[in-house]
Amino acid sequence: MDLYHPIKIGSVMLPGNLFLAPVAGYSDAAFRSVCFGLGADLCYTEMVSAEALTRGHARTPALMDRAENETRYAIQLFGSRPETMAAAARVAAERGPELIDLNCGCPVPKIVRAGAGSALMRDPGRIRDIVAAMVAALGPGGPPVTAKIRSGWDEGSLNYREAAEAAVEGGAAALTLHARTRAQGYSGKADWSQIAELAARLGVPVFGSGDANTAVEAARMVAETGCAGVMIARGAMGDPFIFRRARAAMLGLPDAAPSAPERVEAARRHLALSVRFLGERTACVEFRKQFCSYTKGASGGAELRAAGVKACTVLEFEALFERWLEAASP
Ligand SMILES: Cc1cc2nc3c(=O)[nH]c(=O)nc-3n(C[C@H](O)[C@H](O)[C@H](O)COP(=O)(O)O)c2cc1C
Repeated sequence: MDLYHPIKIGSVMLPGNLFLAPVAGYSDAAFRSVCFGLGADLCYTEMVSAEALTRGHARTPALMDRAENETRYAIQLFGSRPETMAAAARVAAERGPELIDLNCGCPVPKIVRAGAGSALMRDPGRIRDIVAAMVAALGPGGPPVTAKIRSGWDEGSLNYREAAEAAVEGGAAALTLHARTRAQGYSGKADWSQIAELAARLGVPVFGSGDANTAVEAARMVAETGCAGVMIARGAMGDPFIFRRARAAMLGLPDAAPSAPERVEAARRHLALSVRFLGERTACVEFRKQFCSYTKGASGGAELRAAGVKACTVLEFEALFERWLEAASP
């Protein structure tokens, strides 16, 4: 089988196995739309609070909005109580996602103190109960429930096998392993041997997450671990082209590196979509960090970024896009 292939998750068929990971503060509708347009087969929302969703918090539902071109997506929820997660899953299902994912990996202290995110790694029984409650709430016609876990709490408690099996016992139709512990946060090397181990033993599709930072690394993760799919997070920031390039690498096709004008066009589209969802002022402030990622490695990038971190309007960004294009033209 090709490294790039369709994938069946419960009742859902996806055309390919390259995913944009859930990334708080990044994987919003605008960025997901750009990634989807460039070959991501499924993009995950950033994590959505089940408590906020079920209590009717005004701004939370917007995290599940999507652009017209994004015909498939996954919603990720975080929380600690099975009943709340079940109720939140029902609300999320109204948006028609292909999958609803349970976050068992967030290391942020506030989330962990509330018993959610990576705190769940310390209580696999609770992972099972939450997944089971979500599956029951969604019923047989509902979207499949999946879970995203870490390797364990810390080096001394590597319980990814137990956590993964608990999720599957609860009814998870696929599982993602971010192969780092909670203690590692986002640094250190992800241990791909753990992904390989789960892929070989779990009985549901396993997706790998961690250190697939380039198209070649994404292809290598599938080849080396036998995982069903790859989730890309930091490698996509400022480089949504990674998806089409990873697909080419996985199919043994020539690299599809973007030209400078293509990069500028993607950034422009990203900003325009953000404005549509957030309004100009918020979109421009939010886009500053994205602009810095897009211009990494661009000629004249340092000056562009120095101006980009202060830009407040689309017009200011437009001037920077033009400067970026000029600096890139031969
Ligand atoms: C800024 C940031 C925000 C993240 N937010 C989430 C999130 O909301 N939900 C989640 O499951 N993982 C989240 N992650 C973890 C990523 O999905 C991914 O598992 C991790 O970054 C490893 O992949 P990478 O090496 O491709 O970056 C986040 C990571 C970063 C860097």
